Amino acid sequence: MSNIDHLKQQAAARALEFVGNGMRLGLGSGSTSEAFINLLGARVRGGLDVVGVPTSERTAQLARSLGIVLGDLNDLAPLDLCIDGADESDYNLDLIKGGGGALLREKIVAASAKRMIVMIHGPKLVEKMGAFPLPIEVIEFGHVETARRIQAVAAELGYGTPAVKLRHKGDAVYKTDSNNVIYDVAFGPVIAETEKLATALSCVPGVVDHGLYIGIAKTLIVARPEGIEVRE
Ligand code: 5RP
Repeated sequence: MSNIDHLKQQAAARALEFVGNGMRLGLGSGSTSEAFINLLGARVRGGLDVVGVPTSERTAQLARSLGIVLGDLNDLAPLDLCIDGADESDYNLDLIKGGGGALLREKIVAASAKRMIVMIHGPKLVEKMGAFPLPIEVIEFGHVETARRIQAVAAELGYGTPAVKLRHKGDAVYKTDSNNVIYDVAFGPVIAETEKLATALSCVPGVVDHGLYIGIAKTLIVARPEGIEVRE
């Protein structure tokens, strides 16, 4: 196991300590979430009674294979916890997510939980976010024009004309679980005002959602070689 995988595993193990019997859980996506779901599966096999709402088809498949009972968000909200990873977090616990392409369902599930717990390893905690290109989920219809509008918004807010990169999987355009496309947009190296950018992007016709999570995470678990830090 690589050092980073080991840290992800440790963050996942710490997150599991927040889980109690009878809880309704939002299950995140990405490799750190998968480490968590694997640990959760072992606890479920040991008798823990929980029900999960997956944030992606991939997470659903993994959770089912481990015997974790899954349910519909419409029936289960509000969830007790949502446990997920992130691509960056600042010290306010605002996040960039979507590196794994699941930002839309992840945000819906996180917003439906009383508490979102985020698991990261050290270098993802930053003073100012923006080094990680911001994933933006866009309706396929007219997506090139939508990308141009995103660039226009960026210019208006002082980010110049950022590179907008249509995400691919191999040779094909990447499609999300909701059948949309994703643009990875290089606003950085630093996003000066995350909330202002988040609001502006949400108003662009064709944008379904973006990877800025403002005021959603309540607890951040940071795994470093020297130990685990929990920030609230
Ligand atoms: C998926 C996500 C992931 O949580 C994020 O990309 C972090 O992934 P990983 O745990 O593999 O580093 O937002 O859409």
